[in-house]
Amino acid sequence: MQKKKQPTASELLMPLPRYLEEKEGSFRIHMGTTISFDPLFSDVAVLATEQLACKVGDEDILFKKGVSMGEEAYQMKVGKNQIVVTASEPSGAFCALQTIRQMALANDNIIPCCMIEDEPAFSWRGFMLDTSRHFFSVAFIKKLIDVASLHHLNRFHWHLTDDQGWRIKVEGYEKLETIASKRTLLNYCDGREYGGMYTDGEILEVQEYAHQRHMMVVPEIETPGHASALLAAYPEFGCTGGPYEVQDRWGIFDEVMCAGNEDLMHFLQDAITKTATLFTDPYIHIGGDECPHTAWDTCPKCKERMEREGLTSSKQLQSWMTTEICKMVEQEGKRPIGWDEVLEGAEKIGLPSSLIVMSWRGDQGGIEASNLGHDVIMCPNTAGCYFDYQHLDSYEEPGNIGVTTIEKTSEFNPIPKELDTEKRSKILGGQGNLWTENVTSSRLAEYMLFPRLSVMAERLWNPQEFGSVEERRESLEKKLSALDINLYRGKSY
Ligand code: ACM
Ligand code: ZN
Repeated sequence: MQKKKQPTASELLMPLPRYLEEKEGSFRIHMGTTISFDPLFSDVAVLATEQLACKVGDEDILFKKGVSMGEEAYQMKVGKNQIVVTASEPSGAFCALQTIRQMALANDNIIPCCMIEDEPAFSWRGFMLDTSRHFFSVAFIKKLIDVASLHHLNRFHWHLTDDQGWRIKVEGYEKLETIASKRTLLNYCDGREYGGMYTDGEILEVQEYAHQRHMMVVPEIETPGHASALLAAYPEFGCTGGPYEVQDRWGIFDEVMCAGNEDLMHFLQDAITKTATLFTDPYIHIGGDECPHTAWDTCPKCKERMEREGLTSSKQLQSWMTTEICKMVEQEGKRPIGWDEVLEGAEKIGLPSSLIVMSWRGDQGGIEASNLGHDVIMCPNTAGCYFDYQHLDSYEEPGNIGVTTIEKTSEFNPIPKELDTEKRSKILGGQGNLWTENVTSSRLAEYMLFPRLSVMAERLWNPQEFGSVEERRESLEKKLSALDINLYRGKSY
């Protein structure tokens, strides 16, 4: 019988490393495989014993401390009898562990001999999960974080508030839980109550789990639009006083936070303080997208605010609000992030320079923001970053209107083509977004995310033009299936 050819490292990995030299032979991880490590990497080693099912002891797998390598950089030599990893920081050692784990999952614990020198092209490599339109359990979020970290992704953007549900507690505002976190299901349904709220303990649990995997958590408190759930609980925060309802359909609603309302501003201060206290990473996303100004145009309080601040348009009023909320975030020692609409109407008062712009409506927002000196995260819905879109243009595929093929995602480059070369350093990276209006379950969320998120991870880690996605679909499916991911297996284009 002919012996089956062993796959090479490059056939088993996504992202592909920066530099990879294939060698003859392989290393096999088995029940007796041991691991040894520099004390700096003790936390990574504990995870390694779980993820590779090996035990601390001798040096079958050795994690050594290197000198002045990048934070997430690592080198790895896989020989027939030993794997040696070198890194300067635990993040680099963690990335090396995930590279070994990928090959182990895809190839029955047989690691092809190779030499790797690796580090990321971009520091921001993220994914966003909308937990408002549909609610997802802590167990599922942890599962996603783990699989994302397998692909060297390092940012979890947690969309916590929207028209259809508010998911984080703020002390003193109990109606967030009793009213804003729930809605009545009416579409093809029987009026059941639907919703959920993450307790502080659950949020800390998710965060600790993410940090173990060298992933930051970026909470989003959406302002000033997409606020129906908040307004249903606190109608006095809206321009008309309501009544409002937690929405059970999706879209862009005219009911938004009143920009002239001091009580609302106090609430936002409390919500930002709470968020900044609970989440320990440096960023808070403040939303800013899709905010109609129709209610503001006829609201006496909003008009008064405009007069007092010398503003001449409702776009300027939104910009004023953005600036105020950014100040709250900065006072808590964090950096604000906003969707690209935050650039509109900013000519009057300007935007804080610390504000990071998330470019989602194509490249333009990212280009404009970097020209203004802002750091930028790219996730254009036009360029393969929206995973709520269908995999294929077919009425049989789930998802929102719009198509993101695997091929489209594989062509994503976080650096916009028209960007001036000297502005490139402003692009921190990018992310894939999963809005969940049409994602009713965690199984469906997996189907929408994978394998597109795996492909996105490669574009963020190593966007060089080599390595066919198609040739790695099989090994990718094997890895993801081993982690119980219900991935899409259809056509790439
Ligand atoms: C967005 O997709 N509305 C940011
Ligand atoms: Zn108003």
